[in-house]
Amino acid sequence: MSHTKNLSDLFYLFDIDVSAVENMRKHFHEEMLRGLSGQTSSLKMLPAFVTRSQGKESGHFLAIDLGGTNLRVLLATLDGMGNSVVDTVKKVTLSRNIMQGTTEELFDFIALCVSEFLNENDISKNVNYHLGFTFSFPVEQISVNSGKLIQWTKGFSIKDGINEDAVILLNKAFKRRQLNNIQISALVNDTVGTLMEESYSNSNCDMGVILGTGTNACYLEKTENIKKLQIHFSKPTMVIDMEWGDFNGYNGTSYDTILDETSINPGEQIFEKMVSGMYLGELSRLIICDMINKKFLFNIIVSHAFTRNGFLETEDMALVAADNTDSLAKTEEFLVKAGITDSTIYDRKTLKEIFFIVSKRAARIAAAAVVSVVLWMDPLLTKKHLIAVDGTVFAKYPLFKQNMEDLLSEYLKDKKHLINLTHTKDGSGKGAAITAAVAYNILRTNAKN
Ligand code: BGC
Repeated sequence: MSHTKNLSDLFYLFDIDVSAVENMRKHFHEEMLRGLSGQTSSLKMLPAFVTRSQGKESGHFLAIDLGGTNLRVLLATLDGMGNSVVDTVKKVTLSRNIMQGTTEELFDFIALCVSEFLNENDISKNVNYHLGFTFSFPVEQISVNSGKLIQWTKGFSIKDGINEDAVILLNKAFKRRQLNNIQISALVNDTVGTLMEESYSNSNCDMGVILGTGTNACYLEKTENIKKLQIHFSKPTMVIDMEWGDFNGYNGTSYDTILDETSINPGEQIFEKMVSGMYLGELSRLIICDMINKKFLFNIIVSHAFTRNGFLETEDMALVAADNTDSLAKTEEFLVKAGITDSTIYDRKTLKEIFFIVSKRAARIAAAAVVSVVLWMDPLLTKKHLIAVDGTVFAKYPLFKQNMEDLLSEYLKDKKHLINLTHTKDGSGKGAAITAAVAYNILRTNAKN
């Protein structure tokens, strides 16, 4: 692990070749096994108490999506033939106060938004609704609609809530707002929602991945392999929320170490800090500062914007990455806004190259993680696997998907066509509604028997 001297050093430092993928796969499988058997592991392997959707669920369902910088409330309709549509949605940005306040403040805010949503859309408070609650944090579930929060991630640093049941907290907030017509039927991780959403219309889908503000994946496991499971689950397969953001089996660079040490959760979410939108900007900023200090970049002696922690967002990187003008005019515009008015074309090209190197590593290790999970499910890779992926980094970052595909081709060679990455939109919304429907059906069946 060392700092870079120049761009080609940086390239090698951030490279991940086929042998590194093989190494990572081995680590992944060891950690998966440990996680499934209840031993300490950087992969928590959390049972979701739900299996894949059959595409036959139908009705109107509410969903709440919490886990990034926005909160969404929505009403979705499932037609029972593999089609799900969002009828109406309300989206609000979460303030820093809410993300760093108390659970009571957070859940009261959610209940307020739900109440406003019902009023704004003339949805009667006398008709009962089932709701899927996408709560995209690590949760130890004991059923499909209850689970205790293990830790806050992605910039949420709420002072309490650890070990508390997210569904109970939400129910209490609903009661305080007199929202008595809503039954929370499913507590859903966003990866699980994404898998549910895709599998509603496509039975090849056996994995859900989020590459957005944070990163994580879930997949379909044989129930008999979940050795730590102490509660009876009647289906032969169950979705496992891996919480791969916490995986610690891939060694980063000294920039990764600095990023981790200066973050609000040092030592945690190490993989997430190399891959997800919350961190790629900051990681690039650290490299840029190092290059400025070594006088490889920009003619700056005075203090500059890049010295400010958090100054560079992954969105800015995406903007530069998409700048295909000869003079890199959009990059120049961005730099001028940052107070750097005299950048040369060399500076701008170097900046673009740094962003490329950082985002390419993110895409390649994300793909290495995907292939590791698929080879766990299907060691000889004998059948097709559709991987449902959502999140702004995957959907919007230039070449991200391509870089993932390249790694899969290099590693799998002529078997690459067996793994397909598809962009599944709105798993946290529609997928949560579908999960609520699946859970409601299970409840109904159990009640009849
Ligand atoms: C959370 C996961 C979530 C992922 C993507 C991570 O920080 O721990 O539960 O699925 O972000 O939103």
